[in-house]
Amino acid sequence: MSPTPSIDARAIGRFLIIELTRATELAAVAAARLRGRGDEMSADLAAVGAMREYLTQLPAQGRVVIGDDAGGVDAAICFGDTLGAESGPRVDLAVAPLEGATLCAKDMAGSISIAAAAAPGALLTVPNVYMDKIAIGPGYPPDLVDLDRAPGDNIAALAAAKGVAPGDVTVCILDRPRHAGLIAKCRAAGARVRLISDGDVAGVIVTADSAETGVDLYMGRGGAPEGVLAAAALACVGGQMQGRLALETADQRAEAMRHGIEAAGRKYAIDDMVSGDVVVCATGVTDGPLVGGVVFGRGYVETETVAYRSTTRTIRRIRARRPAPI
Ligand code: FBP
Repeated sequence: MSPTPSIDARAIGRFLIIELTRATELAAVAAARLRGRGDEMSADLAAVGAMREYLTQLPAQGRVVIGDDAGGVDAAICFGDTLGAESGPRVDLAVAPLEGATLCAKDMAGSISIAAAAAPGALLTVPNVYMDKIAIGPGYPPDLVDLDRAPGDNIAALAAAKGVAPGDVTVCILDRPRHAGLIAKCRAAGARVRLISDGDVAGVIVTADSAETGVDLYMGRGGAPEGVLAAAALACVGGQMQGRLALETADQRAEAMRHGIEAAGRKYAIDDMVSGDVVVCATGVTDGPLVGGVVFGRGYVETETVAYRSTTRTIRRIRARRPAPI
């Protein structure tokens, strides 16, 4: 008996991009119905349930390498789950049905639903721990910035490569007490700091289009699964990113082992996090710099999705209008 074929790059782009788009659209709409209600958990559950329901019909054998346990409910999309068909091409799935649940609950900018599909083994599988991250968009010399370099040196290198003064570099950072030192160093180096209260997947991805978003550089500590999802999108456009897992306790190190990670302290380059062909789709839940939020119009529901495909480096913007209710 011949082994089940893995999906090839062409097929990933051709059919998975629209499948993932539908999955993130439906999750985004489900979450958006609960925008501004102050209830993160309900919004998350709604998004996870909608995405899971769609992905069970995926015309491929999906294996979840990054998921959302949604508080352990049945509808969760967990690491190791299989979703979709029982035969056909195999793909690895990484999902965050509602990334930035607090932003959604507060109806604040920047919450998205995001999913990635890749050839088996192409995505780094990480436990739910923190990751230190640094990211820039495409068009720069390799290794221009480095996680182990001082923030001021990274800002100076980026400014020189861009041909601007450090004062014209904008750094996006999660607004957390743990980042007080980092923020102070960036400001001391002359850079502008754009603080976000949540949602660092979008925070990283917006470096891919700094002319449009105004963000040149992302730095700081956030979720590791979010780091891999962001790396997947950035890899599709030729951006640069490094990440290092924060494995501080024995439990975290054991969980990392369960995900096949043995070397604590390793610095991952973007190619270590995303090594093969990948597609990434992100639909806006609330308005944000990456994508617009769900619009509930008179008799229709409209979504905006940005879809990245590594094979061709295509970026698609997909506006979908469905008759309401959906
Ligand atoms: P959730 O949507 O799971 O709440 O994640 C939001 C988020 O802001 C991520 O974007 C980020 O990586 C992480 O939380 C940061 O974690 P913390 O809130 O613990 O600093």
